[in-house]
Amino acid sequence: MLQIRVKPGVEDRIRGFFPWIYRPEIASFSRKPKKGELVVVRDFGGRFLGYGYINPEVSIAVRIISFDKERPVNEQLIKDRIKEAYDYRKRLYINSNAFRLVHSEGDLLPGLIVDVYGEYVAVEFTTYGMYRFKDTVVKTLVEVLNPKGIYEKVNQTALKVEGIEASEGTLYGEVPEEILIWEHDLKFLINIPEGQKTGFFLDQRYARKFVRSLVEPEDVCLDVFCHTGGFALNMAKMGAKRVVAVDISEPALKVGERNAQINGLSNIEWVKANAFDFLRELDRKGERFDVVVIDPPSFAKNRHSVPNALRGYKELCVRGLKLTKRGGYMAIFSCSFHITEEHLLNVLREASYDVRRQVRVIAKTYQDKDHPWILQMPNTLYLKGVWVEVM
Ligand SMILES: C[S@@+](CC[C@H](N)C(=O)[O-])C[C@H]1O[C@@H](n2cnc3c(N)ncnc32)[C@H](O)[C@@H]1O
Repeated sequence: MLQIRVKPGVEDRIRGFFPWIYRPEIASFSRKPKKGELVVVRDFGGRFLGYGYINPEVSIAVRIISFDKERPVNEQLIKDRIKEAYDYRKRLYINSNAFRLVHSEGDLLPGLIVDVYGEYVAVEFTTYGMYRFKDTVVKTLVEVLNPKGIYEKVNQTALKVEGIEASEGTLYGEVPEEILIWEHDLKFLINIPEGQKTGFFLDQRYARKFVRSLVEPEDVCLDVFCHTGGFALNMAKMGAKRVVAVDISEPALKVGERNAQINGLSNIEWVKANAFDFLRELDRKGERFDVVVIDPPSFAKNRHSVPNALRGYKELCVRGLKLTKRGGYMAIFSCSFHITEEHLLNVLREASYDVRRQVRVIAKTYQDKDHPWILQMPNTLYLKGVWVEVM
């Protein structure tokens, strides 16, 4: 197997279970590396550090899968890891038949995302090294889950960066256009081929449940960037008098409307608009809400876009705080790992000052527990939300 040695000093971080090695940190190769091949990682003196795979063409050149000398990377390890990931999910007692089964680094399977929607599965490969295990992954999923169908989604950015040639399509069985899943006491339609992400924002499950504790019957609520109505439906289910749900995506709103029908909820107004413009319009009309949830897409795709992204979050917070009644609640989320919790808190502080509304933090929520994150990699905690009471 290919062997690499890292430059002096890099080994401490790897021994501390950080699984990435950047290209400039590699001191030597035992031979010319091939894209996606397995590798043994050693320190500068030749001592074992881990097993992983390599893509010499990308910045994160090596991803370590195993720090255990006794567990080299092979088909068996990939199989075992998927089974371990499933055992963990079973212990979580998630109140839904839709969950993330494999969360990449969070499940020690870098480059692999697997989402389960009832009897169907969506798979995404984001690295060349993991893509080479595609057959093993599919075989194992069939063995573990006995699904009716497995669908491969592709992440265009990852494909481009990693140089993977893949296209979307069914890998096993049959996958219908729409699947009906349940979460708590609500049902949602999922369209794996056409939907955003793999079809649903599974990571917000905990926050969707949390919002229920804030909504009182007869409240007026606002779900900004509502997608297919994840928060809006929960607000309506709690007896809100009126829920306004806004998103720019017509297909998402159409599914949202049908979700409302399926659940017998008729008090949601679905609005197709750019959220920034729409919030301004609501303010101009003097509308005020008891609970406001703002869950935008990732504004910061890389660290260079952070300043611009912060301006976006600030504007959303300013608008959101203005629209929230005194004694009401507002939540702001970021799903970009470049935006930290501290960034969000700072933006909220500035917005609170600008609109002269005092706020107090009542909760912070994160990606749900089927999306575990690695302690040594703060960037794997990508989804953060801050919930405030507007005083
Ligand atoms: C993170 S998702 C929201 C997930 C949702 N809260 C849920 O729990 O299912 C972000 C949503 O923002 C929408 N979006 C993106 N840009 C927008 C804009 N400028 N105005 C309104 N919606 C936008 C996307 O269509 C997507 O549905």
